[in-house]
Amino acid sequence: MEEKVIVFDTTLRDGEQVPGCQLNTVEKIQVAQALDELGVDVIEAGFPISSPGDFNSVMEISKVVTRPVICALTRAVKKDIEVASEALQYAKRKRIHTGIGVSPYHIEYKIKTTPEEIIRRACDAVKYARKFVDDVEFYAEDAGRADNEYLAKVIEAVIDAGATVVNIPDTTGYCLPEEYGEKIRFLRNNVPNIDKAIISTHCHNDLGMATANTIMGVINGARQVEVTINGVGERAGNTSLEEVVMTLKCHHKHLNTVTDINTQLIYKTSRLVSSLMNMPVQPNKAIVGRNAFAHSSGIHQDGVLKKRENYEIINPIEVGVRESSIILTARSGRAALNHKLQQLGYKFEKEELDDIYFRFLKLADKKKVINDEDIKILTGEVFQGEKPLKLEVLQVICGKTAVPVATVGLKINGEIHTSTATGNGPIDAAFTAVRQLIHETIHLEEFLIQAITRGSDDIGKVHIQIEHEGKIYYGFSANTDIVTASVEAFVDAIAKIK
Ligand code: KIV
Ligand code: ZN
Repeated sequence: MEEKVIVFDTTLRDGEQVPGCQLNTVEKIQVAQALDELGVDVIEAGFPISSPGDFNSVMEISKVVTRPVICALTRAVKKDIEVASEALQYAKRKRIHTGIGVSPYHIEYKIKTTPEEIIRRACDAVKYARKFVDDVEFYAEDAGRADNEYLAKVIEAVIDAGATVVNIPDTTGYCLPEEYGEKIRFLRNNVPNIDKAIISTHCHNDLGMATANTIMGVINGARQVEVTINGVGERAGNTSLEEVVMTLKCHHKHLNTVTDINTQLIYKTSRLVSSLMNMPVQPNKAIVGRNAFAHSSGIHQDGVLKKRENYEIINPIEVGVRESSIILTARSGRAALNHKLQQLGYKFEKEELDDIYFRFLKLADKKKVINDEDIKILTGEVFQGEKPLKLEVLQVICGKTAVPVATVGLKINGEIHTSTATGNGPIDAAFTAVRQLIHETIHLEEFLIQAITRGSDDIGKVHIQIEHEGKIYYGFSANTDIVTASVEAFVDAIAKIK
């Protein structure tokens, strides 16, 4: 029988500590509701004593999200615990997460005390928290760099004091996977009362090993994993939920564990967090990156087209990505080109295909990615001379004191049509004006602006993903003016609607 691994999400606490990614209470509630839908077991909603905003968010989330346990962080300080308990007053299922540093660095240089005093404070905090709630998690901060014998003493003492979960954070992301796994095994074998608590992992990604360390923790007996969506978190981030959940799923036969996560909601949740936190997901990020299921080399494309499993260990549908994409570049082979031609409704004999492929390679040498429009031209389809939809005019008024207004002129089948709209910013206003002109229902699914270098005179690259009648279309543009680039990319995507 497979054992359950509890998924403890700390996107709203550890994840939200990233500078510039702070969320307001309404946004936090939106994320908490999405995490509830996703199936996480515990939501760490904030650190109530740290600010009135955090206090309020924990309280408001507690009122509306009732299935998962709502957890609040504290230091091993009475006042923190009292405030956390007050913030959790409306929670149906609640947990206080309290703790203290246990590594020589933290004991000597941060807390400036003795190892014995740390144990005393830890136990006092756990006992005090138990006066308010039945579920108390203890974190041994910087356990990754703590001596295992001493850590075992701390953990035994806090379990005796009433801790129901013991969290072993690799706070600085220092551990090697083997070392972290050994730490968890050591605690299981050397803490006499360990069966009275659940061991939790909490890893940081400073050396890029957060997921590996977490999995080693599970292999060695941890039954709770602390994670964030997209791996967001201070410095190099926390362990990413999607990586751990999908690793446990892919290897469930070997690891004999399961989670309650509805993996089909992973992509949607990832995009929600990314857009609310204004933090783009790196394109090659495992599981949720734009390229995670995109194939561009000829050998791989051919392999995927013959059987998806040849080069994909996860069916993209399992994580809520509609389909794997074959990107046509100079490295694509005939199989990929033929697949795209068939998708566009063309059928060619071998010689014709050879000829198109030859012309395709010539074009791909000049142009990085070959799009559907290019393919139509390559097949000899009569080219109208101009794109059927093109941005001809764009004028915006915006600024701190102005209501953003945009006027857009689109050339639609040779004729210019204009429209003006307002919005919450120049891009929003311009997109509304475009929508007014094309009379189609279009949902913006992804919108990514990236600077190529760092100067203010830089070129901005914009990738856009839209949805129209259940189909996804991509648009791209690059321009020193990011508003123009954004509208061009939007129009580029719309122009692909068939
Ligand atoms: O990384 C860490 O040690 C933490 C604790 C506060 C749980 O985030
Ligand atoms: Zn942390």
